[in-house]
Amino acid sequence: MINVTKTFLPPFDEYTAILKKAWDNSWITNNGDLLRELEQQLKDYLAVKNLLFCSNGTIVLQMALKALNITGEVITTPFSYVATTTAILWEQCKPVFVDINDTDFCIDATKIEAAITDKTQAILATHVYGYPCDVEAIEKIALKHNLKVIYDAAHAFATRYKGTPIFNYGHVSTCSFHATKIFHTGEGGCIITNDDDLNNQLMLYRQFGHVGDDYYTIGINAKNSEFHAAMGLCNLKYIDAILRGQKEKWLRYYGMLKNSNLQLLDIKTDVDYNYAYFPVLFPSEEKLLTALKALNEQQIFPRRYFYPSLNTLNYVHGQPCPVSESVASRVFCVPLFNDLTVAQQEQIVQIILKSM
Ligand SMILES: Cc1ncc(COP(=O)(O)O)c(C=O)c1O
Repeated sequence: MINVTKTFLPPFDEYTAILKKAWDNSWITNNGDLLRELEQQLKDYLAVKNLLFCSNGTIVLQMALKALNITGEVITTPFSYVATTTAILWEQCKPVFVDINDTDFCIDATKIEAAITDKTQAILATHVYGYPCDVEAIEKIALKHNLKVIYDAAHAFATRYKGTPIFNYGHVSTCSFHATKIFHTGEGGCIITNDDDLNNQLMLYRQFGHVGDDYYTIGINAKNSEFHAAMGLCNLKYIDAILRGQKEKWLRYYGMLKNSNLQLLDIKTDVDYNYAYFPVLFPSEEKLLTALKALNEQQIFPRRYFYPSLNTLNYVHGQPCPVSESVASRVFCVPLFNDLTVAQQEQIVQIILKSM
């Protein structure tokens, strides 16, 4: 069976050797040594000023909205994982969907201003498949209308735009370290901001709002454990090799599919992409379903990602977003992971092309 992704696991002995430190200290959670070590290594690796390792990539979205005092309308993308929208709803805010562009599938920045009202407080956009949004246009709009910008950068570990780490854009960026991500800690995520005061607030939120017996604010439990931090410390040693492997396989798919009538992601020269996903956009949903069936028959499971368009969820009642709805019905991500073989890639491509 070939799934869309396969979790990278470091050698077991390396994991337990790191975890032994937690054992020796009898300390397995609550800002342990391994967690602090991981945070430092991630800050260095990603070249960011502040980074808090948290329990997942969803709660950090909620914390971002809360810390920025967002209570009204949030302009957001319909083409993302459901967590982007549910975080907004969970915080009792109103998602206002702005359609995506049909080239990189991120929010269409040219359509944002038309959706701004006197209740708009923030833009929450996703770097879809790890590919950067139009961060410059979004920053201009946010400055002009005094809006906060949050990036759901769940997929964007290690991506850079014009040489700058993508996590450094916006007021806050969040990332997921779920087991399906290129850098993972099993479960986990992080929140990044250049603003030290905001970072302090987020640190308090992560741990119920108190330090010892001093209670500062409301909070939540978004802490993560030494087990997860140890996984992160192990995996970080392999991340450069993982990223190189992703790129090699991504380019192989690209070479094999570029002359077909499938639309592929076009990587611009000012983007250092992390090659996290290989989306394939079919000319019609019918063609996608035919290819999907043919692949599934061979025990190959691409993922309809993202599907459905979030504005169409029955508990959302979002504005129509024709581009997102069309893309969501016609796109899937093909398997792409560390030990995917050349033969497997060739098999996948052949089945897709034959089904067209
Ligand atoms: C775009 C996006 N945002 C948020 C999340 C949520 O992350 P987590 O699963 O770590 O809660 C995901 C997870 O896949 C995601 O893809």
